[in-house]
Amino acid sequence: MHNKITQLFGIEYPIIQAGMVWASGWRLASAVSNAGGLGLLGAGSMYPKILEEHIIKCKKATDKPFGVNVPMLYPDIEKLMDIIVKHEVKIVFTSAGNPKTWTKFLQEKGITVVHVVSSVKFAIKAQEAGVDAVVAEGFEAGGHNGRDETTTLVLIPSVKEKITIPLIAAGGIATGRAMLAAMVLGADGVQVGSRFVATPEASSHELFKKWVVDAKEGDTQLTLKELAPVRLLKNKFFRDVQEAYAHGATKEELKQLLGRARAKKGMFEGDMEEGELEIGQVSGLIHDITPAAEIVEELMAEFHKTKAKMCDN
Ligand SMILES: Cc1cc2nc3c(=O)[nH]c(=O)nc-3n(C[C@H](O)[C@H](O)[C@H](O)COP(=O)(O)O)c2cc1C
Repeated sequence: MHNKITQLFGIEYPIIQAGMVWASGWRLASAVSNAGGLGLLGAGSMYPKILEEHIIKCKKATDKPFGVNVPMLYPDIEKLMDIIVKHEVKIVFTSAGNPKTWTKFLQEKGITVVHVVSSVKFAIKAQEAGVDAVVAEGFEAGGHNGRDETTTLVLIPSVKEKITIPLIAAGGIATGRAMLAAMVLGADGVQVGSRFVATPEASSHELFKKWVVDAKEGDTQLTLKELAPVRLLKNKFFRDVQEAYAHGATKEELKQLLGRARAKKGMFEGDMEEGELEIGQVSGLIHDITPAAEIVEELMAEFHKTKAKMCDN
């Protein structure tokens, strides 16, 4: 398949495996890249030295293009960028911050820059900052999210109306049918997060993967909007947050309740009670742990099959 996104990254299929804290290390990223998609290392949960190790291992595991996701809230971001440049990573996805800050710097080093947004307003800003493509992420997505609660179904055509650079849809995409739908709405490619958590290659804790597979529709909710909105599975920690809201908790009290390293505790160390468990609404449609390459294959097979069927009708 050839389009703007496959051309931009030099890949076979317009499928991007999302950069995800505590999930997307070199094993997952290289498996997706080897299968013809674009794998991303999730630098948000890596110390600079760890990112360096993952880049080196990823290069050994694949000769295909791969990238790094850098959430701009990262405290030591300069160190991450130095490592990315030093190891000649060719693609960077920035998120959670101002796209102006790093785009020029990276592009001057020959790096393709994509920025993740959750609204039309931020998509326009990203285009103005000169990024090479935009990921528009809907409200149903796993992980941190926008405040506007715009769903993928509305966000993609709305962003498409206002930008001219390539557009990647994210949020709620775990099947070839959903991929086709996103592309019908105007996307040139898709970024898939939650589906790739349920893979043997994801570095997430096995218990977390099991919870993802067992999750049903309605088992996640966006919360902690006052700090950084995040979609979580409804476990004990989530219920503690709800209770704090019911008692009129202040922002400071919510911050204290969240504390430090909650995400690591849940998704990486497997504490299903006290940890923060980030996953998308689409977890309700994920029923098994499947190797990443098979997921890429299934997405493309279902995409083509559904497209042909729609044309027959
Ligand atoms: C466990 C998890 C961790 C995530 N971590 C990050 C991250 O570090 N940086 C980022 O930009 N997005 C992060 N996201 C969001 C994804 O990049 C992606 O946009 C989203 O998962 C797409 O929606 P989906 O989960 O419905 O596929 C995360 C998502 C999940 C499920």
